[in-house]
Parts: sequence; structure tokens; C-alpha cells
Amino acid sequence: MSGSRRRAREWDWVGMAEAFAHDVVVVGGGGHVGLPLAIAFASRGLRTVIYDVSERAVARINDGVVPFIEPGAEPVLREALAKELISASTDAAVVGSAEHVVVVIGTPVDEHLNPDPTAIPKALRECAPYFRDGQLLVLRSTIYPGVTALVEKMVAELGVAMPVAFCPERIAEHKAMEELFSLPQIVSARTPEGLERAKTLFGHLTAQTVELLPEEAELAKLFTNTWRYIKFATVNQFYMMANDRGLDFERIRKGLTQDYPRAQDMPGPGFAAGPCLFKDTMQLAAFSDNTFQLGHSAMLVNEGLPLYVVSRLEERYDLANLTVGILGMSFKSGSDDIRSSLSYKLQRVLRFKAKAVIANDPYVPEEIDDSLLPLDLVLEKADLLVVATPHPIYREIVTDKPIADIWNLQGKGVVI
Ligand SMILES: NC(=O)c1ccc[n+]([C@@H]2O[C@H](COP(=O)([O-])OP(=O)(O)OC[C@H]3O[C@@H](n4cnc5c(N)ncnc54)[C@H](O)[C@@H]3O)[C@@H](O)[C@H]2O)c1
Repeated sequence: MSGSRRRAREWDWVGMAEAFAHDVVVVGGGGHVGLPLAIAFASRGLRTVIYDVSERAVARINDGVVPFIEPGAEPVLREALAKELISASTDAAVVGSAEHVVVVIGTPVDEHLNPDPTAIPKALRECAPYFRDGQLLVLRSTIYPGVTALVEKMVAELGVAMPVAFCPERIAEHKAMEELFSLPQIVSARTPEGLERAKTLFGHLTAQTVELLPEEAELAKLFTNTWRYIKFATVNQFYMMANDRGLDFERIRKGLTQDYPRAQDMPGPGFAAGPCLFKDTMQLAAFSDNTFQLGHSAMLVNEGLPLYVVSRLEERYDLANLTVGILGMSFKSGSDDIRSSLSYKLQRVLRFKAKAVIANDPYVPEEIDDSLLPLDLVLEKADLLVVATPHPIYREIVTDKPIADIWNLQGKGVVI
């Protein structure tokens, strides 16, 4: 069957489960969203296998270790391993063993901020020799609009009777084990069979599914993340406006949201970073032929915030003669994930301006960043501190050194 070009035909998928050794294979299942998803399926009794190119991730998963911080995931992984409901492999052949092939590989933008619409089809080519009639292919990565159609074409050319569905992941890191079972699941597919089977699959996790066309679902996911990114940018710009006039934006936000229902969703200022919001806004910008002014403006504001912070510090302090201590390098509180973290941008800019820059992060291990120092050493050596990530531990810091705290973690206001 490998790569053979046969005419796709209708396939009697009902009762196909017995023909497969597994119910689900998660391609990219060693990653931040693929692994919680695989664990969730296994926890619902589905025979689950992970295919991932990362040998390190696969070895750790098979040892019962989640290779990154995801609260609540590891005990469920161990339980599933003990029941032999989950395993991981670097061998693409496992793709042929499962009735449902769920693809959750990373889809970053490149150094020119361009999405790569061929990333998913390219990755799928490695799996294609193992595709079998009767499987369902579920795309779950956040994809550039039109990729579902590209994959449908590719599968049709292979001649495999395999409907394609696009069912985007909408969880937030650290909330996976809760949100996988509570968020409504968007399902989309071109054929009634694909739609029905995707609904049945995700029905194991959540009671509510929302049906869309593939093109609608692709945009729904990008709109979701971009909406959030623009909201953060709006607030960050408000923050800069107030701060430039010596006003504490947190006092203003608290005042305007108090018992006022229409402003309850206004977030506080902070570094809006991480592997999703920025790159998905750029995917949408590329999709709209770079006429997405709001998206690009949001990018300029959010990516510019570390530069703004440094400029303000430069006005107030003699940075060239000071050691600056950065508190927090991951992109969000309580996380070891440094992907697209603006703490590193802050570090880079400060290296040009300050006498020295040192940093701490209690969650980021040495194998990821071996330049980090223990917190007490940073507090001792630094002349000036910047809270870059609102890790709870920084709330407790007692020091007479100045702290720039745009997150208001210490509750003393956000003026810099
Ligand atoms: N991180 C999030 O919070 C989040 C939330 C919702 C959606 N998403 C989307 O989910 C997708 C995955 O994101 P992530 O954060 O889990 O990425 P990740 O980098 O943590 O995980 C991707 C995994 O895919 C593996 N992989 C890469 N190429 C492969 C291939 N050809 N075959 C098999 N495995 C391969 C990698 O080794 C890695 O383990 C992205 O499209 C992202 O936008 C992420």
C-alpha cells in the first residue's frame, strides 16, 4: 500500500477498531500540547501511541516522565503506562497501527515571520507510507488557512480512503489536564463521515462539540489567539501612555473595572509572549497579504515593551554602571517554557546598556539555560531588579533595591 496511487473509495469504518492495534496515534505527541492530549485519550481508555521524532521526549515519556511542566499530567501518564494504554515511539511505522491519526507537530513562523504552509504536508510525507484505508486523519496543530485542503489533496493523491478533519487545540499550557475535558471542541471536516468520526473521537474527552467548515475552523483558531494578542497589546499601550505621565496604570485599571461589567476582561500589562500568540497573529497577517494593520500594530507594541522598559530605566538610572537582575526567563508564570519569551529580548537589550545582566528562573532547568543564577545570588549582586515573568516566588522578595514590576506582582504599582 505504501505510497501507491489507487483510487480512494468509500470505506466501511464502522467496526474498523478491531483491525487496529491502537485507537489513536498522536504525531508530535511528545510536545507541549500533543502529550497532554495523548495522556487524556489514554485516561479515557483509548489505546494510545505517540509518534515523535524526539528521542529524548520518547524515552522520558516511556519512563513515566513528562519532559516539561504540565500540572497534573504525570500521575495520569504513569497510570496509563501501568495499564498499558499508552506508549511512545520514534518509529513512524506506529502511525499505521491506529484508527485515528492526530497530528500536533509545531508550526512556527520562520525568521522572516512567514508561516510555512508546507510544514504539515512535509511532516506527513514521513507518515504517508503507513497510512491505511479506514483511518481518520485529524490535524490539530494551528495551521495556515488552506492547509487542510492541501492535506486532503495529498491524501487523495495517495489513494488512501482516509477522511481528513481539522480540530484545533485551544488549551493553554498548564491548564491542559483540565481544559481538554471542559472546553468545547471545534470539529471540521469536508465529509459527513469525517465529521462524525471526529465528533466521536473527541466525544471521549468533552461533551460539547462545535461544527465548522475546515476553512472556518482554521480562521477560528487564528482569530482566537490574535484576539487575545491584540487585547494584551491594547493594555500594554495604555500602560505606556499612563506611565509616560507618571501615572500608575494598575490604579486606573482597578478603578475602571470596579463593578463595571463591560470592562471585566481588561488584562493587566505584561510581556505578551510565548510560542502561540505572536506567531498566530503573524500567520493571520501573512494570510491577509500584510494588510492586517491591527495585528502588526499589536506586534509592535507587545514586542516593543521590553525596549520601552529599558528606555524608562535608562532615564531613571545610570544603567552603564549598574548590574541588572532579571527575574523570570520563561514566557509565563510557573513555566519552564522559554520559547519566544520576551525576557530574552529584555536581556539582549540590557546587555547593550547595563554594566552587567544576570538572571534567575526557578523553573528553567540548567539544560535549557545554564547562565541562570540562584535567586539569592541575583538579589545580592544586582543593583536593580526587573520582574520579567510573574513567578509567585517573586511576590515574597524583600529587598531595598529598586524593582521594576510591570506585572504588579508585589502590589506596589507598575510605574517605572
Ligand atoms: N503550546 C500551546 O500552548 C499550544 C496551544 C494550542 C495549540 N498549539 C499548537 O499546537 C502545535 C504544537 O505546539 P507545541 O507547543 O506542542 O509544539 P512542541 O514543539 O512542544 O511539540 C511538537 C512536537 O512535535 C514533534 N515533531 C516535530 N516534527 C515532527 C515530525 N515530523 N514527526 C513527528 N513528530 C514531530 C517535536 O519533536 C515535538 O515533540 C502548534 O501548531 C501550536 O501552535 C499550541
